[in-house]
Amino acid sequence: MRIDFGEPKPLDSLDGLRLHDPAAYVERCRHDVWRALRLHRPVGREEMPDGTPYWSFASYADCDRIVKDTETFSSEDGTILASVGVGDSAGGQTITLMDPPDHGAIRRPLMRTMRQSVVRRRSESVREKVLRLIDPLVGGGVHDVARLMRLLPMVAVGELLGIPERHWETIAFNTTASIAPEDPEYAVGRDVGDTLRRVHHRLFACFSDSIEARRRDRGDDVVSALLDLEVAGRPIDDRRVMLNCYSVALGANSTTPHVACHTLLALALRPEVWRTVVDDPSVVPALVEEGARWTSPTHHLVRRVTADTEVGGARMAKGDWVCAWVASANRDERVFDDPYTFDVRRSPNPHLSFGAGAHYCIGAPSSRFALSVLFEELARRRMRFEVAGEIRHLHSNWINGITSLPMRFVRDA
Ligand code: HEM
Repeated sequence: MRIDFGEPKPLDSLDGLRLHDPAAYVERCRHDVWRALRLHRPVGREEMPDGTPYWSFASYADCDRIVKDTETFSSEDGTILASVGVGDSAGGQTITLMDPPDHGAIRRPLMRTMRQSVVRRRSESVREKVLRLIDPLVGGGVHDVARLMRLLPMVAVGELLGIPERHWETIAFNTTASIAPEDPEYAVGRDVGDTLRRVHHRLFACFSDSIEARRRDRGDDVVSALLDLEVAGRPIDDRRVMLNCYSVALGANSTTPHVACHTLLALALRPEVWRTVVDDPSVVPALVEEGARWTSPTHHLVRRVTADTEVGGARMAKGDWVCAWVASANRDERVFDDPYTFDVRRSPNPHLSFGAGAHYCIGAPSSRFALSVLFEELARRRMRFEVAGEIRHLHSNWINGITSLPMRFVRDA
């Protein structure tokens, strides 16, 4: 989705918002819609194309409450709009699609493979890999940054996942294809169903190969942790290991590249902000947080109501579907001053881009580090960059992605 600067124009009407329509996110910036919802309909009843209703929440306070209250708002039936009315066949099996307390049994060992001390210990080797990845950019010239950044997550966490480097490209491409099979960049089959079959087949072949390798030779990584995991006193089966590999790989690849691209794009359009970073690289951590807020790579998080409840004045019944628009929460003017300004010194910045509560992103330390290295190294070389061609956006109501971002890079003399 394009992200515009400045306060959006008021909408004439709240009819026909097309919140579920993936194409609507390709066409233009949708912050006018979310702003209108926050102002006039912070809690609303929306419908999926098949008529299944869901509750839509636009304010920060409500989104924060829904995401944190795992007792009332379950993740087990799906966490994205595509699951509304149909559920998710991996429900109850993966880290993302489980509720506490069972969720903890799988989250704790996976967290250990990704915690801050691990990121610190691996910092030099990840820095080297990021440097190799951005080598073409620092050499100058025009590059499709979206293509290049696709590999950033695997560079950051590929080894922590326990996936051999030979599979990184395949996983990076196919995880995104699996959530945006209609996007021309990712449509590799005759139709959506065929694309999904192909990309799932490729992904599961990579995971299966990685699992076999780790079965013979354990490491300190996600695949090994899953192989050693016992739930209710029993090891989990291979299908469940595989589904969790998919879940973690998806979490990494569907988000990190787009924070990198949207942040680079914002900085290209606001060169004075980039100059601030070049002159004072100590702002890089704040830049990464603002990039995450600005991008809000997951537009929404979906949950299902477990018991009759009330939020924002709306009474919901057990079984109702709920959609928390994180992208809207991250522009809520009651929490963020000048929310439509890219403020590299924003503090505090309590954005919900990494989620909140029990499901808070386990990859946050790794992706923060990889993104920091990217901007530190570009700043250290005093690189300048500008848009150099047509930008294309991902066909998705869930992920705020960029599929093509041609940029010209010049090294300041
Ligand atoms: C800028 C980068 C990233 C963003 C913005 C992001 C965003 C998120 C969000 C919003 C959630 C919460 C989902 C929910 O509540 O339903 C989440 C959870 C998760 N993320 Fe990330 N993520 C990023 C990077 C990564 C990376 C690099 C990994 C890979 C290791 C990863 C793996 C996961 C996993 C496994 C979960 C599920 C945690 C749980 O359910 O307990 N993410 N992420």
